[in-house]
Amino acid sequence: MSERVVVVPDFETMSQSAADSIFEAIRRTPSLLICAATGSTPTRTYGLLAECCTRSPELFRRVRIIKLDEWCGLNADDPASCEMYLQQHLVQPLKISGDRYIAFRSNPENRQAECERIAGALAHKGPIDLAILGIGVNGHIGFNEPHAVFAAHAHVSELALESRQHAMLSKSTVDNPQELVRYGLTLGMSDLLQARQVIILASGSSKRQSLQRMLDTSATEPASPASFLWQHHTNAVCICDQAAMQDDHRDAALL
Ligand code: GLP
Repeated sequence: MSERVVVVPDFETMSQSAADSIFEAIRRTPSLLICAATGSTPTRTYGLLAECCTRSPELFRRVRIIKLDEWCGLNADDPASCEMYLQQHLVQPLKISGDRYIAFRSNPENRQAECERIAGALAHKGPIDLAILGIGVNGHIGFNEPHAVFAAHAHVSELALESRQHAMLSKSTVDNPQELVRYGLTLGMSDLLQARQVIILASGSSKRQSLQRMLDTSATEPASPASFLWQHHTNAVCICDQAAMQDDHRDAALL
């Protein structure tokens, strides 16, 4: 098992380990540009950053955030939007000012123009210093879905059924969000490959299959976005808990 994979006993230890890596990165680079995923996996990690910010606000004074992805069709104030999630878990607790936050607008009138705006902002202010990512149950990263060819930069992505069944959408105030939300806005594969450091988090048995597929570098089938990133990024680590790890990988570097 690669030393790039760190298996920890549980969700809390995974979150602490990820938070420690983020603290270290911020100490090295106070204006760190963090690409932030949403979903359940990084929530406690972000909570630990928020707790640290209460104790040591000066550490976060120059930190910048870029939103990884957003559902198309939800307003910013919808409880299921990635915007609401990031505002609640990162932007407000870490007091990230508007000039330090790059984010797809929720539900833009012109999706293509919005992607171009974000691509321009990243070209100007990037690259990403540290990407905190989760894996979808189908191996997606952000809303880069399993396809034969991946888009390089910010783009509109047609969502896979598994992505539209994500628990986040059940919080929406719209009727049938799974029917309404058919597309997402997401940073692209090159944006993530150019990130100086990537941390992929995986927790729980629902991630076993996608994690196994990501780590199996001998797989000849078309790569999932997670496995493509894993194989091609030179500074990516995976922190996962035992529940997410298959039995045959239990000999990995146990913390
Ligand atoms: C959604 C989010 C992604 C997230 C992924 C995994 O697609 N838009 O940013 O990484 O789901 O979510 P979870 O951690 O809840 O499994």
